[in-house]
Amino acid sequence: MKDDLSSSSNAEPNSKENKEENCSEEFSFGFEKVSASTKQKRVNTVFTNVANEYDLMNDLMSLGTHRLFKRMLIEVSGINPGDQILDLAGGTGDVADLIYRTVGNTGQITIADPNLQMIEIGRDRLLDAGACNVSTCVCAAEALPFRANTFDKITLSFGFRNFTDQYQAFSEMRRILQPGGSVTILEFTKPKAQLLKNLYAQYRSLWPKLGAFITGDKPSYTYLNDSIEVHLSQEALLEMFRDAGFVNCFYTDLLGGVAAIHKGTKPISD
Ligand SMILES: C[S@@+](CC[C@H](N)C(=O)[O-])C[C@H]1O[C@@H](n2cnc3c(N)ncnc32)[C@H](O)[C@@H]1O
Repeated sequence: MKDDLSSSSNAEPNSKENKEENCSEEFSFGFEKVSASTKQKRVNTVFTNVANEYDLMNDLMSLGTHRLFKRMLIEVSGINPGDQILDLAGGTGDVADLIYRTVGNTGQITIADPNLQMIEIGRDRLLDAGACNVSTCVCAAEALPFRANTFDKITLSFGFRNFTDQYQAFSEMRRILQPGGSVTILEFTKPKAQLLKNLYAQYRSLWPKLGAFITGDKPSYTYLNDSIEVHLSQEALLEMFRDAGFVNCFYTDLLGGVAAIHKGTKPISD
């Protein structure tokens, strides 16, 4: 595996105007409103703290369902052998591993994530799987160090709600996709049925306690819970896809809306 860990971990948006705008802008860190740089630092600290137990906690909190959701993400993304694929916010590499198992040693898979501890686990996982066509890149979604029109597909699993500037991330994803290429996002959403919403909220309230027991780090799992609570609805995320200029956009709910998969395509004429 090519290990091209670069050091472009700052998520500063590209343009001067954006930088100036974002200086005064506030972003959600759970229920708190913080500056862009504070959000980046605090999100990074969360994932540094949880990296070693991240996969175990995912299995425990989701009772294994995240594995099923990720398989559906791969299915919906329509990855083909030979594709050039970016797994954005790729973390500990389980999605990249599924992509690798789907396409084998054809094409090229890149795992991008600003958190070094998470991506190192991902790199090791893919090395252990014997992948020779996977590279890693330490970078944030808001400033992707790739040329325009590079990737056939982007997959993004449970990372989007952690982004600081989600509009900038969409603009970057569109830039680096080939015309006709697609972004498929798996993310926590909001169940529509009130009963399920209430039950799910009660179930999620156990996560910080479980996090404290397994990792000794309650605040990181409180953030996880809060970030789900303040995250966009399915319809709002669909609207963002459209606003960012993607076409053929749709979403499908998973487990009654506990999570959803959204997909959009970069216009051929781009
Ligand atoms: C909940 S984990 C998801 C990891 C993996 N994709 C999965 O589904 O298990 C969220 C990941 O998003 C990454 N992340 C946070 N902010 C980011 C940003 N601005 N750009 C790209 N990735 C980011 C974190 O470092 C973390 O690895």
